[in-house]
Amino acid sequence: MFENMGWGKKSRLSQIVKSDGRAVMLAIDHGYFMGSTHGMERPAEAIKNLLPYVDSLMLSPGIVRNSVKPDFGKGMVLRASGGNTILDPDIDDEEIILPAEEAVKLNASAVAVSIFVGSEHSHQTIMNLTDMVNDASQFDLPVLGVTAVGKALKDKKEVRYLSHASRLAAELGADIVKTYYCEGFEEIVAKTPVPIVVAGGPKLDTYEDVLTLCYNAIQMGAIGVDMGRNIWQSDYPAAIVQGVNAVIHKNFKVKEALELVESLCNEETKRREDFLVTAQDIADSKVH
Ligand code: 5RP
Repeated sequence: MFENMGWGKKSRLSQIVKSDGRAVMLAIDHGYFMGSTHGMERPAEAIKNLLPYVDSLMLSPGIVRNSVKPDFGKGMVLRASGGNTILDPDIDDEEIILPAEEAVKLNASAVAVSIFVGSEHSHQTIMNLTDMVNDASQFDLPVLGVTAVGKALKDKKEVRYLSHASRLAAELGADIVKTYYCEGFEEIVAKTPVPIVVAGGPKLDTYEDVLTLCYNAIQMGAIGVDMGRNIWQSDYPAAIVQGVNAVIHKNFKVKEALELVESLCNEETKRREDFLVTAQDIADSKVH
């Protein structure tokens, strides 16, 4: 993996993809088009207990400057395309929001650019990726190509479309591709000659579903996840992130990882109960 690269790029990629060839990326960049998102209202607080269990963060340049300490000690993939909000008719009218030089100034491990293949602004987004690959090359800065869908393409999270979009991203020079997990995912891996990480997508019903997604993606050839809402919108983010980490870095099966998550949830419930101050506690207290 990453054989034909310069030292600088390899070194940066090693902050994202660890020595076992796997990657746990925590995506917290949603605000770049969703604004304040449930679970990520206060990014610094939301990520505090999750950082020990992730290899890198994927986030927007403003949140890095405002919510992350410079010595936080993890890899960092900066969102470099954007320009829309969910209030727009669609979110594919993107341009580059962060030049490579600025990303290097922020000490990014990589930059992320979305392509919305087949959307109204498809060509523009493909050129965003192409331009960023060329710009980033000056600095040996890796590029993560994201096969985004948006509103018009929301039904395209299927193997034929995602294989096509992922292959395009690799052909244009993305060092890693981020796409969605779907039925037949192994075909996407087979047709994409660069490592793939999968997004989590909207919140799934159960922890078992989240762990199954991670497990299946890894079994079918993904190198890891770049997951957001299924971690930080959960009731027990620090528990599920440890389960995800165990599937990806420790080869846990779904059942083992689920047992780990459930025991961590139980410990956390107990801790919360211990610290819960009830109305009765206040009534009983002599100090008012
Ligand atoms: C948006 C993104 C997000 O980072 C991505 O969707 C991952 O987050 P989630 O797991 O919540 O889907 O790239 O384009």
